[in-house]
Amino acid sequence: MADLPEHVSRNRTQWDAWAAEYVRPGRERWASEEPSWGIWGVPESQVEMLPADLEGRDTIELGCGTGYVSAWLARRGARPVGIDNSPAQLETARSFQREFGLDFPLLHGNAEDVPLPDASFDFAISEYGASIWCDPYEWIPEAARLLRPGGRLVFLVNAPILMLCMGDLEEDPAEQHLRRDYFGMHRFEWDDDDSIEFHLPHGELIALLRRSGFEVEELREIQPPEGSTTSYQYVTLDWARRWPSEELWKVRKARR
Ligand SMILES: C[S@@+](CC[C@H](N)C(=O)[O-])C[C@H]1O[C@@H](n2cnc3c(N)ncnc32)[C@H](O)[C@@H]1O
Repeated sequence: MADLPEHVSRNRTQWDAWAAEYVRPGRERWASEEPSWGIWGVPESQVEMLPADLEGRDTIELGCGTGYVSAWLARRGARPVGIDNSPAQLETARSFQREFGLDFPLLHGNAEDVPLPDASFDFAISEYGASIWCDPYEWIPEAARLLRPGGRLVFLVNAPILMLCMGDLEEDPAEQHLRRDYFGMHRFEWDDDDSIEFHLPHGELIALLRRSGFEVEELREIQPPEGSTTSYQYVTLDWARRWPSEELWKVRKARR
């Protein structure tokens, strides 16, 4: 741990401690044929996070947690690899591989510095993995390095407007006014745990994506359907029906 960046080392300790809470939701998503995404479980048919042409594609999930996204990719004919920073999360992922009879490589490591060659993958994905727990100035160029020309990166994150309205505690849900500055938004620390997250303003994220060699194809701001539920307390459905609590980015590495 000594040579890891401070946020990676702190997030490893925190995610090892949280891993037990992610076993039950992880199993539910492993067991589900139809992908559903994010804290509201919005169905794939609404968000279209996965490309149609996954058959035979090399894919990497950056911050794979319990591995259900890679399981969905494998069932669609892809050759997935997952990488995660938490040994405890990977232990759960390996137990689900045995339980559901599906095997693919799971690497223990930091998604900001993946020990694999350039241009190894056609598709990279992160659902609240590297996309919020890694420094974007590290993981986005690293994702670009790992992708082949024309390869796609898709990632799901909290929307910036939620980060502006959220409290410093999980049980202090987003309010209807701004509680933080937008300019300078980058690293977030919380009062009730030791984790560190990263979120950028839209303009800064677009500039970083373009500098890293990506073309932005779509930004989809997600409105959960009426009646949606979540186990998280930091935002209510009423709030998320009025403003985007999560958003999905689809970007493609330029062909040359
Ligand atoms: C919320 S889970 C994402 C997995 C799954 N999609 C989900 O939503 O449950 C976040 C995962 O990111 C991992 N993570 C945090 N920092 C990371 C890093 N630097 N490199 C790789 N994985 C990281 C954590 O260990 C954790 O398993």
